[in-house]
Amino acid sequence: MTRTAIVTGGARGLGAAICQLAASQGYRLGVLDLRREDCASLIGTLPGSGHVALQADVTDEHSMRAAFDEFGVTPDVMVNNAGIVRFGALLEQSVADFRASVEVNLVGTYIGAREAGRRMVAQGRGAIVNMTSLNAVTPGPGAGAYPAAKAGVAKLTEHLSLELGPLGIRVNCVAPGFIDGGMSTPVYADPRVRQLRGGAVPLRRLGLVEEVAKAVMWLASDDAAYVTGHQLVVDGGVAHSVLLQLPRKVD
Ligand SMILES: NC(=O)c1ccc[n+]([C@@H]2O[C@H](COP(=O)([O-])OP(=O)(O)OC[C@H]3O[C@@H](n4cnc5c(N)ncnc54)[C@H](O)[C@@H]3O)[C@@H](O)[C@H]2O)c1
Repeated sequence: MTRTAIVTGGARGLGAAICQLAASQGYRLGVLDLRREDCASLIGTLPGSGHVALQADVTDEHSMRAAFDEFGVTPDVMVNNAGIVRFGALLEQSVADFRASVEVNLVGTYIGAREAGRRMVAQGRGAIVNMTSLNAVTPGPGAGAYPAAKAGVAKLTEHLSLELGPLGIRVNCVAPGFIDGGMSTPVYADPRVRQLRGGAVPLRRLGLVEEVAKAVMWLASDDAAYVTGHQLVVDGGVAHSVLLQLPRKVD
């Protein structure tokens, strides 16, 4: 039987890479994003057939419910990938920007997981993968509410795994590091930033959107059947590299 997946924020960036990989693995997709035309354009590039463009706002539970209804079947896999960043120092950031980040990243993930989980319970199985960030592990100065919101998503993932595990549903998250694509495209357009950040990673380069997609689809797959409540950090080792940056001996 054809496996199915809904990917939020699926029209571009990491979400589009996840959709590409899932479609190549035979999944029938619900590509969910703010604009139906963007979802439809992406679908035009996907292998396979039967993919559906779903227009919804992850912060709006009614539009999310309508999108799931439109998809028509309970997805085997739900990827809560939609996210935003509103840059700004904490002392300068507006409360509206802080709220918007929490709303899309954290509340939006909750709404997506709740909608998928309620439906997956009826069939006693399913896999949910949420998108966090390196910022959930170690906050980046100037990222506003983003680190707090993503850390919230990581904790929400653990919490969901406890409540949904006994119902046959696994819930995990992926924390990408310095990724050359999606919302970071403008950041890495500056060659000095590319060199600085890429060079500071133990694997000595930025990550690819395809490498994040592989981690997501591994957690979604039966190969990860005994993995739940886990945050898989995909960062070339940078989260644990403080002593690499601060050597004991300097030549
Ligand atoms: N690119 C990176 O470097 C990076 C690193 C770590 C984590 N992430 C995370 O990966 C995820 C994808 O980011 P990206 O880099 O692909 O960003 P992106 O901006 O390229 O794509 C995000 C997509 O989400 C959609 N979206 C935003 N708000 C939405 C809403 N309310 N409802 C529905 N869709 C909405 C956008 O329309 C867009 O298509 C995000 O959760 C982001 O925080 C990205």
